[in-house]
Amino acid sequence: MKKIEKICCIGAGYVGGPTMAIIAEKCPNIKVTVVDLNENRINNWNDEDLSKIPIYEPGLGEVVGKARGKNLFFSTDVDTAIDEAEMIFISVNTPTKTYGLGKGMAADLKHIELCARQIARVAKSDKIVVEKSTLPVRTAEAIKSILENTGNGSNFQILSNPEFLAEGTAVADLLNPDRVLIGGDQTPEGLNAINSLVQIYANWVPIEKILTTNLWSSELSKLTANAFLAQRVSSINSISELCERTGADIQEVAKSIGTDSRIGSKFLKSSVGFGGSCFQKDILNLVYIARSYSLNEVADYWEQVIIMNDHQKSRFARNIIKTLYNTVSDKKIAFLGWAFKKDTNDSRESPAIYVADELINEGANIYVYDPKVSKNQMLSDLNYLETRTNKDNEKKLNSSSDVYEICNNAHSIAILTEWEEFIDLDWQKIYDNMLKPAFIFDGRNLLNRIKLEKIGFKFYSIGIS
Ligand code: NAD
Ligand code: UGA
Repeated sequence: MKKIEKICCIGAGYVGGPTMAIIAEKCPNIKVTVVDLNENRINNWNDEDLSKIPIYEPGLGEVVGKARGKNLFFSTDVDTAIDEAEMIFISVNTPTKTYGLGKGMAADLKHIELCARQIARVAKSDKIVVEKSTLPVRTAEAIKSILENTGNGSNFQILSNPEFLAEGTAVADLLNPDRVLIGGDQTPEGLNAINSLVQIYANWVPIEKILTTNLWSSELSKLTANAFLAQRVSSINSISELCERTGADIQEVAKSIGTDSRIGSKFLKSSVGFGGSCFQKDILNLVYIARSYSLNEVADYWEQVIIMNDHQKSRFARNIIKTLYNTVSDKKIAFLGWAFKKDTNDSRESPAIYVADELINEGANIYVYDPKVSKNQMLSDLNYLETRTNKDNEKKLNSSSDVYEICNNAHSIAILTEWEEFIDLDWQKIYDNMLKPAFIFDGRNLLNRIKLEKIGFKFYSIGIS
């Protein structure tokens, strides 16, 4: 078995950065170099001021601070890092395709292919290549084919080592994972490569939590895990609408079913819908793969999870419009939160974007406060939908770092992210400065309804009539 002394990770994003920081901290004898084409991102990772690293995750700054410059490096010199490393993690983005065959469904693997070609071109010695990105089942076959047909005669072993961290809790998840999954070829060389990676994780993960499988099981398990998690959110959200019609309370229902140990209590929080860069992308990809094998019933089954999620976002927006006397034209609607969940600065696929889009279509003016997402990011999220021009979005979307200013003279407030700081705001002051009747639409079931109704707010929470 090869003892690994140098690791390279291609992609310094939400996965590459935190994962490699933890490996570096836990394996002081391994030199870890994280590389990216995005110079700005690398400069931010190297910023002396640890509050300026590009990804906000509780505890991440301290981990980076401990290892950076010792055995953890961030660089744009991809070739040198590939050349030096015995093990290369590919952790680049794999978004939904926006063009050509499979548009809107399949994963776009162009960055993966570019990495494989670059490794093949640069490598002068044998390498273990690890798929860290989430990939369609059988992608390792394509990577292997590129490496073997375009390389300089070096030997490559491909492993699949999908990442299960959730944003907002990345450091805790990496330090104490439910499991680490490693898939590889079931040949002597493949098993040796698997073992090299097992030894790295074994520095801090109990060996019984490190699962090894064949390549295809590992690749497919990642898509399946995300599909099951998202399915739970859509399932509880579907029941939330029924609760609103029948007088049942979704929080009581969730607690009642979650105490059944066969069901379990996690991922039963009803919300305005799930967001994030992965759930939707990975399910769409699963649906696409199933259809490509003509498994239409399988594809339809999983597609429903997305349909339900779109419905939940849209009905939240439509409920605001209906409650505000069927018109939001030129009304000020305050959004508390833009990130797709608390404790992250990531807003990819955040429900807030879709709710804002629907309300702006009806003429509303949206004023957003989020502790971690910048106005530029919010605008770029809206522009990405291509519903309107940047200029029009600029007129309709405002932001401020003063939450009270955001709420002044608003017709209503919508809670889009469950940032805990919202719980303890001076709600009396907010009420006094709003137009009456003052409405709150709590898309995260975060606030204390009884307390706020006592102040005078008209309150709507998901799944409670
Ligand atoms: P990201 O967009 O934050 O980071 C990807 C980085 O790769 C970018 O900085 C980009 O510039 C860089 N990159 C792309 N092509 C490159 C190339 N050829 N050479 C060098 N750098 C290149 O993405 P992410 O959120 O870190 O996700 C990465 C992968 O991990 C995806 O497949 C995703 O599905 C998966 N994943 C993400 C999470 C998550 O919480 N975000 C969790 C588990 C798995
Ligand atoms: C998710 C998975 O939890 C990770 O295991 C996986 O590695 C990751 O996707 C990935 O592949 O990218 P993440 O998207 O970061 O992690 O965050 P989650 O905590 O799963 O939340 C996703 C969305 O679902 C958020 O918008 C969240 O608010 C929503 N959600 C979650 C609910 O509405 N209700 C719940 O009960 C749980």
